[in-house]
Amino acid sequence: MPENFIKAIRTDEIALGGMKPVQLDGNEIVICNCGGNYYAVQQRCGHMNAPLDKGTLDGIYLTCAMHCAQFDVSNGEALSGPVPADFGKEIPPPMIGQYLQNIGMLMKHIHTKSIRTYKTKVEAGWVYIML
Ligand code: FES
Repeated sequence: MPENFIKAIRTDEIALGGMKPVQLDGNEIVICNCGGNYYAVQQRCGHMNAPLDKGTLDGIYLTCAMHCAQFDVSNGEALSGPVPADFGKEIPPPMIGQYLQNIGMLMKHIHTKSIRTYKTKVEAGWVYIML
């Protein structure tokens, strides 16, 4: 069966360690440049659907900007779930504290799923993605 790759972006559109969101055939995808290796993952976080391109990439580890769940972009595995807000010794105002407590109770029941990955290849300065 022939592999169906789609031309996505030029390799020089993402700096080393950078990410770029793209839409291909209705799929929201983030392309990651991990030391010159290009990985492609679904754009939406496996926790609560935040856009993962707003997060940070450290090697192959992508951290969601919303609640800091982490994913391995080489295989999509969810490595850790959300991190609760931590104010250290500072006590938040009562209304904010109650709000955060309620959010924490709700989020406790939300499972962080692994994310979809897409096969990539680089040819002649272009990144191709197989949908
Ligand atoms: S939406 Fe990404 S960690 Fe919550």
